[in-house]
Amino acid sequence: MSDNAYHHIPVLLKESIDLLNVKEGGTYVDCTLGGGGHAEAILKGLGVRGQVLGIDTDLEAIEAAKKRLAAHKNIKFVHDNFKNLKKILTEKVDGILLDLGVSSYQIDQASRGFSIREDGPLDMRMDQSLALTAETIINQFGQEELVKIFSEYGEERFSKRIAKAIVVGRATSNIKTTFQLKEIIEKAIPTWKKRESVSRIFQSLRIFINQELDSLKTLLNDAVDCLNPGGRIVVISYHSLEDRIVKQTFRAAKADGKMNLLTKKPLRATEDEISSNPRAKSAKLRAGEII
Ligand SMILES: C[S@@+](CC[C@H](N)C(=O)[O-])C[C@H]1O[C@@H](n2cnc3c(N)ncnc32)[C@H](O)[C@@H]1O
Repeated sequence: MSDNAYHHIPVLLKESIDLLNVKEGGTYVDCTLGGGGHAEAILKGLGVRGQVLGIDTDLEAIEAAKKRLAAHKNIKFVHDNFKNLKKILTEKVDGILLDLGVSSYQIDQASRGFSIREDGPLDMRMDQSLALTAETIINQFGQEELVKIFSEYGEERFSKRIAKAIVVGRATSNIKTTFQLKEIIEKAIPTWKKRESVSRIFQSLRIFINQELDSLKTLLNDAVDCLNPGGRIVVISYHSLEDRIVKQTFRAAKADGKMNLLTKKPLRATEDEISSNPRAKSAKLRAGEII
């Protein structure tokens, strides 16, 4: 199996469908449609009367999922940011699923600029109608602003050295590609864990450009009002910044008497799943039920 094929397997699929408690005739929202793997599994459990709403901020993802799920009549596709869920919905639903981050489709396309393994333009926008790209940040933001992004969203301990090296590098000519940026990062740091630092810097840029943490906070705060009593929310996150937000918001909803926690500790993928799908390694799943 190629590395790319690994990416296309939906993470924690059985666990997320079980915890969503997918039942015939129910209505569910997949807020992160991506390649449509989770949505397809929800659709299988729904019967003919159920409904799925599939949301993605990436128009290419919506188009790909439409093709994959063409045989299903009971799914509607919405190109939007999930932070707008409350405005998108006309009535309450029985389940909300979030499988955060970038999809395999986005990573596999070098032209999107998400991959550290393939050279591409410094883009990193999930929604291609956004104006701000990684290239603008890397070439135009001040050194201090770069340090802040790398530290806050990448938790990178060599943020200062890396920001300085970028400012020195761009003085000669603009930094335009992912490999140019990768090389600058690798040369700037004294450690053998260069790959991890590159990943963290790319992660920080992605989170900043797509305002991922703000969207997640808004969605989680609104979710309680979007779900029927007994409705479920399932969130799969891939790094500690996201998981912390999910954990804290769920705990606050429980303290307010609005939610029961279905996962006291986050669920992790089994060794078996990780060996067939390395992306599952960092996945953490938390779920809650509305009272
Ligand atoms: C990990 S993938 C989902 C994969 C999907 N579960 C599957 O089975 O194929 C995450 C998707 O969520 C989308 N996404 C990320 N943040 C979003 C947001 N704030 N609003 C809407 N979609 C978002 C990305 O564009 C990406 O397609």
